[in-house]
Amino acid sequence: MIAAPLWVAYGANLGTLLRTCDAVGACMAIPGTDHYREALNKGDTLEQRPCIHWVDAKLDWIDRESRRGAKVIGVELYEDSIPLSRLEVARDPSIVLLGHEHSGLPAEAWAFIDQFVEIPMLGIGNSLNVAVAGSLVLYKLAGLS
Ligand SMILES: C[S@@+](CC[C@H](N)C(=O)[O-])C[C@H]1O[C@@H](n2cnc3c(N)ncnc32)[C@H](O)[C@@H]1O
Repeated sequence: MIAAPLWVAYGANLGTLLRTCDAVGACMAIPGTDHYREALNKGDTLEQRPCIHWVDAKLDWIDRESRRGAKVIGVELYEDSIPLSRLEVARDPSIVLLGHEHSGLPAEAWAFIDQFVEIPMLGIGNSLNVAVAGSLVLYKLAGLS
């Protein structure tokens, strides 16, 4: 399983997601740019760095992983999303796409997504923090929650 916060901008969120990846045995894929390397250096509080895939071209990378047989799961509040309770434990290699803190998953990524999942919300907020949303999905996919 690979968590892919390819559009997530903030170091604290990347660091939190990296800790979750470590906890559930997933890798993390992020862009190999200076911005992301610096953000991860600030956000990463682990003593040892877990598995990271440095991505050059985001959509090409998703396309390649998909053609190799990975299931691409988009984490987004969306009318076609299944609720988290219906998400099954990952039996096949899976990519978990997470969106930007302000703009979400970009439209150009949607064509690659096999399944959308959302965490239902009852409150007045429009969305969860991306690291919280990603962590809930990763735990469910890993069969640990
Ligand atoms: C803060 S949200 C983005 C909200 C943005 N204003 C929008 O309307 O798309 C950042 C990312 O967190 C994830 N996310 C947050 N809350 C979620 C939820 N309840 N269900 C599924 N994904 C969620 C999605 O990946 C989303 O792209």
